[in-house]
Amino acid sequence: MRKVFIKTHGCQMNEYDSEKMLDLLAAKDDFTPTDNPEDADLLVLNTCSIREKAQEKVFHQIGRWKKLKDKNPHVKIAIGGCVASQEGKKITQRAPAVDIVFGPQTLHRLPNMYKDASQTFNRQLDVSFPKIEKFDYLPQSNTDEVTAFVSIAEGCNKYCSFCVVPHTRGHEVSRPVEDILLEINSLANRGVREINLLGQNVNNFKGTYRDKKTSLAFLIEKTSEIKGIDRIRYTTSHPYEFKDDLVELYKHVPELVSHVHLPVQSGSDRILKLMRRRYTASRYLDLIARIRANRPNISFSSDFIVGFPGESDKDFQDTMDLVEEVAFDESFSFVYSPRPNTPAAEMEDDISQEIKKERLAILQHKLNELSSKISRKMVGTTENCLVIGVSKKNPGELQARTENNRVVNFASNHDKIGKFVNIKIVDQLTNSLRGKLERF
Ligand code: SAH
Ligand code: F3S
Repeated sequence: MRKVFIKTHGCQMNEYDSEKMLDLLAAKDDFTPTDNPEDADLLVLNTCSIREKAQEKVFHQIGRWKKLKDKNPHVKIAIGGCVASQEGKKITQRAPAVDIVFGPQTLHRLPNMYKDASQTFNRQLDVSFPKIEKFDYLPQSNTDEVTAFVSIAEGCNKYCSFCVVPHTRGHEVSRPVEDILLEINSLANRGVREINLLGQNVNNFKGTYRDKKTSLAFLIEKTSEIKGIDRIRYTTSHPYEFKDDLVELYKHVPELVSHVHLPVQSGSDRILKLMRRRYTASRYLDLIARIRANRPNISFSSDFIVGFPGESDKDFQDTMDLVEEVAFDESFSFVYSPRPNTPAAEMEDDISQEIKKERLAILQHKLNELSSKISRKMVGTTENCLVIGVSKKNPGELQARTENNRVVNFASNHDKIGKFVNIKIVDQLTNSLRGKLERF
């Protein structure tokens, strides 16, 4: 049996794609996954190009793998994901050790590309965007986890001025609702209890049901009717397309968690306009207020970019004010990184890297303070948690997740794995909470 080692950089979408690559290679070519690259016949790197740093890692990794190939010439190296999509042939020109280059929309062709590369010794390149055909080729998942991602849409049409995703993952295409529900049903039959509906901009989901266009809210309601699925999340949503029917859902669909990741990027209207985000800070705040009115205990997390070209002290202060006002839960923040083919990369930028880093530190300090305050407030409360598995640090304990995705470690028998339990939060640690199982 052949072995494959996959290394994944970047977002949850890439994690999902890598899982699918493993499923495909297992079904078609009898590959088994290995954790050790030295044992592998096929080395796959699923790359990310969202920021420059992520991209730099690719050629370093290829350099390390080339040494393994020098020892074992039958080993093949495959590069997938967004750097592959962006750079295409330039990858093999710069790194001749690479045998296969494939994009996010052609990952289903990896088994055939591997076969051709092995038989002909020719390099294989396919970074095209053949719509959504890949889903027709993906075998059923054989996961034994209790949570699962399900891709509902691919690509993005928003063209935020800083973002490379529309260029690397192609245009937005939604999967038909029937196909998605079939996948979720089969996951529920395997014991999955929590579904995370995945896409770059899930709020603009337009998948058809009985040949009619629907919405994310419709898909969530249908998903909530599936027996066994008691928790539903979605990532990532765009504030501009957060529709009224979705706001409404927070009133009457308890399966929909009380936590939303809603990237705002900046609190300055001037910067939001330059970013082409299509909303203002006050529209964002209004949306938050409308969701909160339907679900008072809900928490929000976000993504932020600091140091966008021309960001002034005042612009940055607007971001800090918005952060304070929303009181965000655990969030992500980045220094702006110019990306190829994006309009922001052409904008004049007179802010020094030093100031940008300083602003990032100030923002991150504030975000940590706020999320730690939320954790502190959870101590003493009883939380409905999904038990994910054995605790990473202590095999005698179990690990569960709260609705706002905090890790809780607690003592219990293994028979609770995969179940929802009530846990009383007794302590707050740096990256997790401690809890005590409540008896009914
Ligand atoms: N689809 C998602 C985000 C995809 S990228 C959305 O609608 O927001 C994930 C995050 O990376 C973004 O939210 C943004 O905060 C950050 N990001 C994207 N491009 C970036 C760039 N050029 N420089 C720095 N951060 C960036
Ligand atoms: Fe990128 Fe904006 Fe789409 S951040 S993924 S272009 S919504």
